[in-house]
Amino acid sequence: MAWNKKHLLDIQSLGADEIVTVLDTARAFKAVGERAIKKVPALRGKTVVNLFVEPSTRTRISFELAAQRLTADVVNFTAEASSLKKGETLKDTARNLEALNADFIVMRHSASGAPHFLSRFLRSSVINAGDGAHEHPTQALLDAFTIREKRGKIQGLNVTILGDILYSRVARSNIWALTKLGARVTLCGPATLVPRVFEKMGCRVTYNVEEAIADADVINLLRIQHERQRKTMFPSIGEYTSLFGLTKARLARTKPDALIMHPGPINRGVEIDSEIADSARSVILDQVTNGLAVRMAVLFLINGGQGPQGVTA
Ligand code: CP
Repeated sequence: MAWNKKHLLDIQSLGADEIVTVLDTARAFKAVGERAIKKVPALRGKTVVNLFVEPSTRTRISFELAAQRLTADVVNFTAEASSLKKGETLKDTARNLEALNADFIVMRHSASGAPHFLSRFLRSSVINAGDGAHEHPTQALLDAFTIREKRGKIQGLNVTILGDILYSRVARSNIWALTKLGARVTLCGPATLVPRVFEKMGCRVTYNVEEAIADADVINLLRIQHERQRKTMFPSIGEYTSLFGLTKARLARTKPDALIMHPGPINRGVEIDSEIADSARSVILDQVTNGLAVRMAVLFLINGGQGPQGVTA
């Protein structure tokens, strides 16, 4: 199926068929990554600029590697060492990158809507690598890929997202993706961080963690995003862990095959017990591995690739 999107700004505006095309294309790219020669020339002559104006480990490095595996030229923009520090606007910065013939601008920004703003005037393709508390589309795609890979399907699964939902772009993108693909999504956390307005997105909201995890096929844990919270949302980290953390006692009351997921970075001993994060039940590092194939698929499809059969061409 052709993927007729110039940008990837969010999951909200994608159809289920477009999400499935990314997942199928990523599966082909994962196979490419297991070959002796892991590179394909799909983006030869193209330039990808990673415009990260907020910290990142996983997303920035996997977009860089994804572009390299597709034989693109890659430039990593470091906000701290850029003319943003001298007062240059985001718009001027992006237009200068375009003047240097950037074909793709992969952007992370603390302001919700920043990639949508760039997409309105740039000729380059814009890929959202996380905008404020709004969306993180490639994280949701790699999460969906990992669930489908491990469980064989997404339709009909019970997925619980546990933690700071209010400030989480990962939660919003996951809710859009998983509900479009037919999963039942439950949200749980402190009432201040899980407002009932999320029910309007088709989710179940509960403040009872035991109930939230009991019948879950997937438990996706989110860290507390202090950098976005403007006031104290709960009394203490210790209280959060005792009420909502995935402890060994709580894990014992989950389905034995429930997948334990986390987008990272993990705060060990807060939202997840350190041993659980490293256990066989955890697919946290599989998510990171799959992120590379998913980001290759996104770059490939936006460049006009026909997925997934065209991948090996
Ligand atoms: N999951 C995620 O977005 O991680 P980074 O902030 O390290 O990119």
